[in-house]
Amino acid sequence: MFDVEKVRAEFPILHQEVYGKPLVYLDNAATTQKPQSVIDAVRHYYERDNANVHRGVHALSERATASYEAARDKIRELLNATSRREIIFTRGATEAINLVASSWGMTNIGAGDEVLVSEMEHHSDIVPWQMLCERVGATLKVLPINDAGELCMDQLDSLLGERTRLVGIVHLSNALGTINPVKTIIEKAHAVGAKVLLDGAQALAHLHVDVQALDCDFYVTSAHKMYGPTGIGMLYAKEALLDAMPPYQGGGDMITMVTFEKTQYNDLPYKFEAGTPNIAGAIGFGAAVDWLKKTGIDAASAHENDLLAYATEKAKAFDGLRIIGAARDKASVLSFTIKGVHPHDLGTILDREGVAIRAGHHCAMPVMQHFHVPATARASFAAYNTRGEVDALFAALTKAQELFA
Ligand code: ALA
Repeated sequence: MFDVEKVRAEFPILHQEVYGKPLVYLDNAATTQKPQSVIDAVRHYYERDNANVHRGVHALSERATASYEAARDKIRELLNATSRREIIFTRGATEAINLVASSWGMTNIGAGDEVLVSEMEHHSDIVPWQMLCERVGATLKVLPINDAGELCMDQLDSLLGERTRLVGIVHLSNALGTINPVKTIIEKAHAVGAKVLLDGAQALAHLHVDVQALDCDFYVTSAHKMYGPTGIGMLYAKEALLDAMPPYQGGGDMITMVTFEKTQYNDLPYKFEAGTPNIAGAIGFGAAVDWLKKTGIDAASAHENDLLAYATEKAKAFDGLRIIGAARDKASVLSFTIKGVHPHDLGTILDREGVAIRAGHHCAMPVMQHFHVPATARASFAAYNTRGEVDALFAALTKAQELFA
């Protein structure tokens, strides 16, 4: 049985007041809060084990290395990747995509080739490809979305062709909440010989992901949207691809031998982890994976789906509210506008009521352009939110609307 009060008790930050009101944290798509176990893991590392990894011969370094590498194993297991060699720690999903664009992209994409992304991508899955295309003379193509915020799948076949080298698709949209039919996209992309990168920054806290069953070539995520620390994330890639890719950055730890004439690169995954990594972050990431597994992704997402359905019903009944993103397959995100109130004003007024939402373009400006809005207000749900908090959101929205009436 999923017990939301028990879950809430694990998150110290939730138990505070903001402007004299109980904090209602509904900005989870920007970053989730961290359970005590994640905070403790990071703290334990700094208090007991702080040392560099893969280098030291002393006890602390061995402990640090063991915890850092154990985190990699936990992520491998969560994703059902074939090998730990396929899990590369990065600063986040953004760096992971930049790694693929720089390393794999510069080697495999040339003049006249095409990269296909969707209209609902986060900027991090647009700009690196745009930069690459400009550099090599390739073309960036766009799979449009419809007014429900779903991919126009009927246009996919005509956008894929023999020049398509890569398809970059968000698994769960941070701006709309849409869950995309990634399996079908992967099958179709592979049929024309293209590789597929899935942006899972928003997905992993809500969905089971099996990279082998999906057969995706690249999968990226950030820990901070799945109850882990900021500044750490990962790239999954099929081992054969990583083997053939040149390093992304040069430096310590990514080499086995350096002379001025030639450098021998390290084995996977270290070939892609130059420099001292975010050791504490990786350990915290591992603790977040433990926490998700203990809590149960299915139970948590069923709870979040209930909150989303409850909030959506209230939103539909709210005068002047327009929901942005009404996909049939959707999770954890309610984006909306309210007639006569700018989303930024909504955000500020809600803040005074203790309710934290995000107002803005959510790093997905093309989505705003599609819906002809400058910004949306976005409430996004995590395992620790409650129906009472949804009520508080709508009470605050009523107040904001009255203020602007
Ligand atoms: N991309 C993050 C968001 O959706 C920051 O808010």
